[in-house]
Amino acid sequence: MPLPALSTTAVDGFAPWKRGKVRDIFDLGDRLLIVATDRLSAFDVVLPDGIPDKGKVLTQVSAFWFNRLGHIVRHHLLSTAREAFPEPFRARPDLFAGRSMLVRKTTPLAVECVVRGYITGSGWNEYKQGGAICGIVLPAGLQESQQLPEPLFTPTTKADVGVHDESITFAQVEDLVGTVLAKQLRDLSIRLYSEGAAYAETRGILIADTKFEFGLDGDGTLVWIDEALTPDSSRFWPLDSYRSGVSQPSFDKQYVRDYLVSLHWDKRPPGPALPQNIIDTTAQKYRDALRLLTGLSL
Ligand SMILES: Nc1ncnc2c1ncn2[C@@H]1O[C@H](COP(=O)(O)OP(=O)(O)O)[C@@H](O)[C@H]1O
Ligand SMILES: [Mg+2]
Repeated sequence: MPLPALSTTAVDGFAPWKRGKVRDIFDLGDRLLIVATDRLSAFDVVLPDGIPDKGKVLTQVSAFWFNRLGHIVRHHLLSTAREAFPEPFRARPDLFAGRSMLVRKTTPLAVECVVRGYITGSGWNEYKQGGAICGIVLPAGLQESQQLPEPLFTPTTKADVGVHDESITFAQVEDLVGTVLAKQLRDLSIRLYSEGAAYAETRGILIADTKFEFGLDGDGTLVWIDEALTPDSSRFWPLDSYRSGVSQPSFDKQYVRDYLVSLHWDKRPPGPALPQNIIDTTAQKYRDALRLLTGLSL
């Protein structure tokens, strides 16, 4: 039986340096301990109910990809093994084991590097309105969920808590980080997506789109940070039921988003409570994603 959802972590005398929507982050000097809780955020609002084991799935999936795609770019992951964590974290496996990553601390760049291989979600909405995504004009007549002629880099701002990320053009990325770094971000994001998606397809999962984050370390080296091709940062679709022209079932929080849309909630906090069957089904979808992709179970 899975444990109840873990919504927050705290240990005596060590408050998190930062709480993101999903992760609690502890500052260890030149390193961070990033703890994926079971919180679920949808439409940028953290819901009152967590999804049991979700944080463990996210951490295991991220570790899998950092190891598999580490030849493309330097990444931040140092270890997910509890033995590598300092005290007081090592002594609390109930809170930290299996869901925490010891990482290099960087200065995050203020761009979310979205890559889309298929047209869906906000990209589909933008395309229907103006035939383009992030200023990139696309061929006419694309269908919902169709594979794009090639993966697109469709960056967004990295908004503060409570504010929605907004899509920006490549020229705006150049303004934010400079032309050299902007091109590096685009090329690396597309390469990480392409290699990741090709592998996932051999495991029966289509990665429709995803979001990467990068940071700069002390000597200015670009580092791939945050999470890696997880069901929170990506849309995972089952390959065997894929067809274009309709929206797809998924192995990720799209299932919860669809439920929330059916409630006509105004997408402002506080979010609604989730029925037990939605929690259970979502938890199973996350575990299925891990098992399918990596062959691992929790
Ligand atoms: N190696 C790193 N160095 C510095 N910051 C990082 C690193 N990896 C991830 N982060 C930051 O930690 C946070 C992760 O927590 P998360 O719950 O995903 O936050 P958010 O609500 O901003 O998405 C993000 O703000 C991310 O930019
Ligand atoms: Mg995040």
